[in-house]
Order: sequence, then C-alpha cells, then structure tokens
Amino acid sequence: MKQNTFIVANWKMNLNFNSANDLIKSFKDKINKRKTNIITIICPQFLLIPQISDYFENENLNFFLGSQDIHHETSGAFTGDSSVELVKEFGCKYSIIGHSERRKNHFEDDSIIKKKIILAIKYSLIPILCVGESFEDRKNKNYLDVIYSQLKNSIPSDLKSIIVAYEPIWSIGTGLTPNNNQIEEVAAHINNFFIHNNIQNFNILYGGSLNSENYNEIFKLENINGGLIGGASVKKEQFIKILSNFYLD
Ligand code: PGA
Repeated sequence: MKQNTFIVANWKMNLNFNSANDLIKSFKDKINKRKTNIITIICPQFLLIPQISDYFENENLNFFLGSQDIHHETSGAFTGDSSVELVKEFGCKYSIIGHSERRKNHFEDDSIIKKKIILAIKYSLIPILCVGESFEDRKNKNYLDVIYSQLKNSIPSDLKSIIVAYEPIWSIGTGLTPNNNQIEEVAAHINNFFIHNNIQNFNILYGGSLNSENYNEIFKLENINGGLIGGASVKKEQFIKILSNFYLD
C-alpha cells in the first residue's frame, strides 16, 4: 500500500509575480480538503520564492515550497548562484537536485550533485534527485546502467531520506512518455538500489510529459509514488484537473 503520493510542480523559469499568485490562488482552496495522502510541492524560480512563501505557512496542509536547485557550497564567490541558507530561510522544505536541464546547461556532474544532496540534508531540505537516460542510452539498451551509476555516484551512503524522480531526458517537454512497463522496469531498478544499500526512507516519482490525461495510469504503477510535473504544472486547467483527483472541490 502506498503511503503518500507526491505531486511536485517544477515551474522552471516560468510565471511572474501576478501569474504565480493567480495560479496558486486558483487551487489554494482545495488544499485543506485532502481526499488521500497527498503531498503537493511547488518549485518556483528563486525570485518568486519570497513572494509566494506565505501560502505555505501551515504545514498541516501537506502543501510545501521547494527550490529548483541549491548551490553545493554554503556561500562564496559564486556569481549568479543562490544559497541553501536563503532557500531555507524563505520556507523551502524540498529541493530538486540534478535536473537534466542543470546537468546539461550548467555542466553538473554526479560529484557536484552529491555535494548538493549532502548540503541539502545538512540544512534539513529533502532532496528530489532527478535521474534518467538520454534517447541514445535507451536505444543502446544501457539505460539501467546509466541510472544505476547516477544513483551510486550521487547518493551519500549515510543518507536517511530522499525522493528520486525518474525523468527520461527524451521525455521532458516532448510529449513522449515511456510505456508503463518501461517506467515500472526503471522504478523497480531504483527500488532495488535502495534495498541493496539499506536505505529505507525513499520515494520514487516519474517525470517527463506528465499531463492531466496520462498521470493517473502512471501514478498507479507499483513502484511509483507520484510525479514531477513541468509544463502541465503552470497550466491552470491542467494542474487543477490533476489535483482534483486528490482533493475535494
Ligand atoms: P515536463 O517537464 O513535464 O514539461 O516534461 C518535467 C521536468 O522537467 O521536470
């Protein structure tokens, strides 16, 4: 039996002060009427975090703020980056770490990602680690090895609690999704990694072209505990449609 379902909204570099407020207001009333054990986490770009942090003050609502990244050092000469301390100060409880857009556009490798996870844990932020294969890896049938090595090289051995999002790179923003067997194969593989490494407190999410039409089937898969939603999380109708399954009107 699944304990919790996580809905993580990765807003990426979208929305402004007005549209972010408008979006949250449109579903905020639902949040205190949970039907099931649902944890909703909103991850806006950094400058929106202070602006919307008031919405997340009541922790009993299982409605949390997350960041899309943290730097791997606490402070220093890192022009353009944002620190974990400020992310915490403005009420974030979670942080996405190692998203494929960070890996690709900011050259983040597993050793940097591991440092970020260690720092997140030190500051009591729950990491949402993204892993996933490229189209090439899938075509060459070495995707399970790629994902295993991402997990092995970025997860510290003494880790207590983590969320891993399986996000095939070829599925992000493309409208393509793996079929249920393909998702379940990778999720079971991630599950085995944790069992073998004696890490008990973990949740596995799926991410990549989730929308209001396909999320329900995917969330029912045995080893999947929810999703990391990009494009559909900034479209009001889509996101409300997804939430409606878990919250009363
Ligand atoms: P998408 O993005 O839902 O737009 O495919 C998911 C993600 O990148 O986290």
